[in-house]
Amino acid sequence: MSADAWWKNGIVYQVYPRSFQDSDGDGIGDLRGIQKRLDYLVELGVDAVWISPIYPSPMADFGYDISDYCDIDPRFGTLDDFDALPAECRARGLKLVLDFVPNHTSDQHPWFLQSRAPRENPKRDWYLWRDPAPDGGPPTNWISNFGGPAWTFDEATGQYYAHSFLKEQPDLNWRNPEVREAMYEVLRFWLRRGVDGFRVDVLYHLVKDRLFRNNPPNPAFKPGQDPSHRLLPLYTTDRPEMQDIVVEMRRVVDAFSSEDSARVLIGELHLPLERLMAYYGRTPEGMLEGVQLPFNFQLIAAPWHAAEIDRIVRNYEAALPHGAAPNWVLGNHDKPRIASRVGQERARLAAMLLLTLRGTPTLYYGDEIGMADVPIPPAEVQDPFEKNAPGLGLGRDPQRTPMQWSRAPAAGFTQGRPWLRLADDWATRNVELQRGDPDSMLSLYQRLIALRRNEPALHEGRHEQLDAGPDVLAYARSAGTRRLVVLLNFAETEMTVHADLLPTEVVVVASTLAGRSGAVQGELVLQPLEGVVVAQ
Ligand code: GLC
Ligand code: MG
Repeated sequence: MSADAWWKNGIVYQVYPRSFQDSDGDGIGDLRGIQKRLDYLVELGVDAVWISPIYPSPMADFGYDISDYCDIDPRFGTLDDFDALPAECRARGLKLVLDFVPNHTSDQHPWFLQSRAPRENPKRDWYLWRDPAPDGGPPTNWISNFGGPAWTFDEATGQYYAHSFLKEQPDLNWRNPEVREAMYEVLRFWLRRGVDGFRVDVLYHLVKDRLFRNNPPNPAFKPGQDPSHRLLPLYTTDRPEMQDIVVEMRRVVDAFSSEDSARVLIGELHLPLERLMAYYGRTPEGMLEGVQLPFNFQLIAAPWHAAEIDRIVRNYEAALPHGAAPNWVLGNHDKPRIASRVGQERARLAAMLLLTLRGTPTLYYGDEIGMADVPIPPAEVQDPFEKNAPGLGLGRDPQRTPMQWSRAPAAGFTQGRPWLRLADDWATRNVELQRGDPDSMLSLYQRLIALRRNEPALHEGRHEQLDAGPDVLAYARSAGTRRLVVLLNFAETEMTVHADLLPTEVVVVASTLAGRSGAVQGELVLQPLEGVVVAQ
């Protein structure tokens, strides 16, 4: 098996640590809780677990504001608790991926405390400090991704510092070689402790314009939309200098790869398709020296129609550089859950889509049991994005509610009071109940994951888009002589698959509906909103 097999052919599962499993009754998920649930991940059949930030943090942005990159927040446990994880994962054949947050630190990080001390300090240049504009206002018109200006004035030193997110998350200066080296040392710290890779937070944000030019207005912006879309992020994201940094980062991680297991970088990149592709880091010789998996979020934003998804898949496949590994994501801690975006029935089709497309799938915890967004009453709101831009539907608490394990109190998530309310349906929608039910979302996920694992056509095979009419998304996956055809009926009516698309006898190897399997003679009729995988 090649060293790259696990991240190319496997499945990644995202754990939001606050909400996965609490072990000490404080109502906040933690590392010992995650350890306790590793067997569940094996039962589900995934290959790698990515854990959102677990480092010491004032929690202004729930761990994405880090005050020490090389330790564990006491709410999540200790470094000793962490050190048990790589071995526990290895024993189960799981890979461990951590979140790396290089764009900003917490304003409580010692580097920033030093940087904002009297100006002559050696860390001043580690962050982005600028004099006020002539009118005393912010140096540029840049806006924070959470709304409001991306600059905060520091009375003591008379300058503004830049922050792409909260004012508690000052941006590091990635043009400074000392910053780069310090951050690469953070990667090495965790690689030495046995992690298999990193998901890199807002990778495209790291470098800002050398001349600090104003961003142009976004002509497509309409009031009521995400306020950070008011300007085009021309001078604040995806600067040309990013390309060298991506290659440097990759080298740091590659140095820890072994013959039987590569270390991986997964980049969080919200960019148009052709710009996304640049982060694979293709050299003139055709080598790929950038991040192995630039996250492909297109299924999160897509209007849920067969024709739309057909277009997305075709364009993505066509845009990939030679040899680049594709990947697909259905949900994460920043976006509404799939079950809420499209409904429970269509979420079953989405599961089949995610797990049969060519490319590494990333699952978000709870989606495998059909967890939906939970409306959070204003008095219980936790997410700073919702607090900064209330009422626009941008808040992220709804998709971060505690995992629903069982009918035990608090769904088996905690012995205490959960930090965020549970969904109302936790007593009827949980792992314990779905385990024994062949019709459940969990059983569907397990069947599809097992199929993907057992079929080279699915985990490493070729992809060919087929035409099955406007409401049926169809593609073939093949390896050697094995050819599987995936047919997803997006319509609420029965659909008959064209006789010229399939031979007269096929075998259904998976369906989103329970109880359908075996040989089909003659025409194949898809039930409303049914997806099938057939072998011919
Ligand atoms: C990323 C994270 C998000 C966080 C932001 C700032 O987009 O996924 O949760 O708020 O970066 O770190
Ligand atoms: Mg806890």
